[in-house]
Amino acid sequence: MHRHHREDAHDHSLEGLREALTAGFWDERYSGSERVWSGRPNQRLVEQVADLTPGTALDVACGEGADAIWLAKQGWKVTAVDVSQVALSRVATHAEDEGVADRVRIGFYDALDDPRPAGRRTFDLVTVSFLHVPVEDFDDVYRGVAAAVRPGGRLLVTAHHPHDVESGARHDHGPGLLFEPERVLTTLGVDQPGSPWEVEVADTPERVQETADGPLHVRDTVVRLRRRAR
Ligand SMILES: C[S@@+](CC[C@H](N)C(=O)[O-])C[C@H]1O[C@@H](n2cnc3c(N)ncnc32)[C@H](O)[C@@H]1O
Repeated sequence: MHRHHREDAHDHSLEGLREALTAGFWDERYSGSERVWSGRPNQRLVEQVADLTPGTALDVACGEGADAIWLAKQGWKVTAVDVSQVALSRVATHAEDEGVADRVRIGFYDALDDPRPAGRRTFDLVTVSFLHVPVEDFDDVYRGVAAAVRPGGRLLVTAHHPHDVESGARHDHGPGLLFEPERVLTTLGVDQPGSPWEVEVADTPERVQETADGPLHVRDTVVRLRRRAR
């Protein structure tokens, strides 16, 4: 199969994988350019939040805050957390510039240190987009993130689908880093008797991503779960 990787080569060793989830790595990456991401909210977030009533939201691994700011503009009270202080200070600046500073709080979160992103606080919506963690950390991290959803609230997980590596659209992030919807469902035990989770969406939609080399067809993993009210 013809492969045309469009991204930089990465170190795929286990050490390399963990290194890519540290504050040092991300602070350096964010410091290296004025804006790393597009500034636009993720398409999947916009699609999945459209039918929800605004309340409190937690944006996990928020990056530069485009999703958090978009949510705030829709009326959500957002807590945005990330391992990178450089990213977090950009979130605060952008929230100020966009006039939503009163609805966006920032907080430090290191998924590999303490998987619960906001202590014991819970939210109406917890969203995590494109946080890819090594296989051995996956269960702890995603269960920790899911624990922040209040009864009646939603968890939205968006990720790159492993198909992108097979198709050559994306470099290999490392063994097991990209994942399918089933991985989230299994980790959270949605099929187990007494599970609090109702599956609202478990999908693998495609989209066209604009890159410097032209349009790229990519596939996402999208999971939206509702924690049943007690
Ligand atoms: C691919 S970016 C996605 C950013 C944002 N969610 C978005 O969709 O634009 C991954 C983000 O995860 C953050 N991150 C990486 N390792 C982390 C960790 N151990 N704990 C918390 N956040 C982490 C990075 O700082 C970065 O902002």
